[in-house]
Amino acid sequence: MLKDKNIILGVTASIAAYKAASLVRLLVKEGANVKVIMTTYAKEFISPVTMATLSKNTVLSDFFKHDDGSWNSHVDLGMWADVLIVAPTTANTMAKMAHGICDNLLLTTYLSAKCPVIHAPAMDLDMFKHPATLRNMEILRSYGDKFIEPSSGELASGLHGKGRMEEPDVIVKKITEFFESKKKN
Ligand SMILES: Cc1cc2nc3c(=O)[nH]c(=O)nc-3n(C[C@H](O)[C@H](O)[C@H](O)COP(=O)(O)O)c2cc1C
Repeated sequence: MLKDKNIILGVTASIAAYKAASLVRLLVKEGANVKVIMTTYAKEFISPVTMATLSKNTVLSDFFKHDDGSWNSHVDLGMWADVLIVAPTTANTMAKMAHGICDNLLLTTYLSAKCPVIHAPAMDLDMFKHPATLRNMEILRSYGDKFIEPSSGELASGLHGKGRMEEPDVIVKKITEFFESKKKN
């Protein structure tokens, strides 16, 4: 179902970013073409070299490349993608997306994308249940975005609760189901 699908994987700055490596590997194994966009801080959590190697594509992060005047087109990326998956999605990125802020490549691509958007949030339990986060999720849902809800368990902080990004194999299953249901309708 994912064969030849064009997938943008947005990776934001959560400790769960390490799971994005397995996710990209699974998507590529399924035959998808994957382009990874990382936020600046996401690169503190997982190396772009890892993501580039596993996705078989250069990782995109900046608007501009070096000093040669070339740049990454969020408009082209938005048109290329069959789906934009943001995994993990931080509270910060959700808030910015909900309010149309676009001060990095992932956010400008989000605003330009015509394709479906699926988020897999990851955060500490109190961040996740804060009214601001819940409201931002509602706003994003009202735009048509889908969510793969985080699971409950031990969090990186040592606390227990809801906020763990769903496992990569479950995310792949949900994306596959999403495309299957789209094909039926
Ligand atoms: C060790 C560490 C772990 C973090 N984990 C999360 C997280 O799981 N979820 C989250 O929303 N923010 C988390 N943050 C905060 C984000 O990194 C911060 O809000 C950042 O500005 C998000 O940037 P981005 O959304 O542009 O990637 C963490 C910060 C640190 C230092």
